Amino acid sequence: MRPACFALTLLALLSWGSGCRRVAQVEPITPAEDPQLRGLSPPSPQEQAQRAISERFQRREQAFRELLQPGTQWQVLRVDQGQIDQRRISIARLIDLGKELFRTDFTVEQGLGNGLAGHGSNLAGPRPAPNLRHVHRGEFGGPDATRCAACHHFGGLGGGGGKIDTTFFLGDGDRPDSALPRNPKDLHGTSLLQALADEMSRELRANASAADRSLKPGESVLLTSKGVGFGYIRKRSDGSLDLTGIHGVSPDLVVRPFGWKGTTATLRQVVLYSLQQHLGIQADELVHSPSPGRSELLGSGPDEDPDSDGVRHEATDGMVTALTTFVAALPPPIEEVPEVSTFALRSARGSEVFSQIGCAKCHVPTMQLHEPVVSLGPTWSRRPRVDLSPLVVGARKAREPLTVRLYSDLRRHNMGEALAEPRHYRGVPADEWLTPPLWGVASSAPYLHDGRAPTVDVAIRAHGGEGEAAAKAFAALSLEDSAALRVFLQTLTRPQSLEFKP
Ligand code: HEC
Ligand code: HEC
Repeated sequence: MRPACFALTLLALLSWGSGCRRVAQVEPITPAEDPQLRGLSPPSPQEQAQRAISERFQRREQAFRELLQPGTQWQVLRVDQGQIDQRRISIARLIDLGKELFRTDFTVEQGLGNGLAGHGSNLAGPRPAPNLRHVHRGEFGGPDATRCAACHHFGGLGGGGGKIDTTFFLGDGDRPDSALPRNPKDLHGTSLLQALADEMSRELRANASAADRSLKPGESVLLTSKGVGFGYIRKRSDGSLDLTGIHGVSPDLVVRPFGWKGTTATLRQVVLYSLQQHLGIQADELVHSPSPGRSELLGSGPDEDPDSDGVRHEATDGMVTALTTFVAALPPPIEEVPEVSTFALRSARGSEVFSQIGCAKCHVPTMQLHEPVVSLGPTWSRRPRVDLSPLVVGARKAREPLTVRLYSDLRRHNMGEALAEPRHYRGVPADEWLTPPLWGVASSAPYLHDGRAPTVDVAIRAHGGEGEAAAKAFAALSLEDSAALRVFLQTLTRPQSLEFKP
């Protein structure tokens, strides 16, 4: 980052009410008890196998105990945020609890789904709880599943979903063609995306404040962060700022790295909405936060039980924190350079081609992360705040930024008619999509927002709009170069893990 920008970032910290973000105590996300789990030294296959076997025994025992004393496990999973704040629960334990919550099948007794049938509500279907259905009704959602892992499961826990797992958002609760199809995304490395996007938002906002102070009427200035351009801001003759030249990010200049449309800024927010919309599990945090569209999102039942299923406090703040921490700790994808030199050479050539034909303009290979600290609790001052550095493989000298190899600009682009939807989505135009990070792309088929592309080839050829020139350049490559590009993309994969499927 240029010194001037850095000064602006500092300024942003002060001027955007986030001066408190200087962090006093930060816990590394790599749990001290479990240093080999993530980060610099990935566990050997033998270690992983041993871990998987012992975990399987534990889970079997747990299942038997649960049969003898039903409800014991659920009490364990109902994590209390107060305990987390008081540091009575270690990060390692929080990750384990989150993992368990992620793969738990919620039950009607625990609050799965809703009891709105027969209450004259048009939000829910006609059946008794859980009242499952495949197509969401507006913001209220389904429920369309009983566990997070139902959709995030390819290649292991926290992966993406297959074509059949495609979710139908914001529909009429019945017809798939009324809804917007979205393929479940792989969740590895998402905490790094949150941290990068947060830095970008702060830098863009700092640029905007600086422009407001220094521009003369009629002048304009380009908005950039981490080398990515987001259009320009202009000063009108009346002294107000004209923001209509901003592109790829919402006018509030908050970079939102989550969702195919880039509509959510933090993992915690996604988790809260996923609980509601996919599982009908209403978190206290959502129930207690006043919002104008509350009854459309939660249902119009009693204050403490908006979905009228007779269950209150379906998810505590601590449960949301545990789930968020589990997701945040999923290690980022890796680049697996082939051992055989012919393939390694091809891959290196493929990486060059990737830049030469313009893929890297949007799928920006690397970004520098200066402050790898994210807050995963209900507010910035609550726990846990974690340092993500151990998730990034590679030596890091103190005070040096981390290099995140994400292959995205975390910006939205117009991708043309063929990829456009019939309508806009949460204020984002119908034909705009966030550049998906290509890290892990070799293990995240099917591709594109609705999972329509079974292979990367099909996905690349579908690029229109701002991506059309690159797609044409790809189609015009020699056989050798297009093979090299495919070999390169095949090296972008996720860390392998051994686990038993239940
Ligand atoms: C029925 C399928 C389904 C279930 C169940 C589900 N998800 Fe998802 N998930 C999706 C889809 C589809 C997306 C992409 C959403 C979008 O584009 O806006 C997604 C996106 C996400 C993301 C953002 C990833 C990114 O990079 O944009 C997170 C985090 C996430 N889900 C966590 C969860 C958690 C936690 C649960 C359980 C509470 C859960 N999901 C349950 C389908 C599902
Ligand atoms: C103008 C920006 C832009 C350029 C240039 C671009 N892409 Fe993309 N790419 C995107 C966006 C946006 C999507 C998501 C579109 C969607 O889901 O409908 C995407 C999706 C993809 C996907 C599917 C990823 C997934 O997880 O589903 C692959 C693979 C891909 N691009 C590879 C490439 C390659 C290779 C090139 C160069 C030939 C390229 N892209 C050029 C913006 C771009």
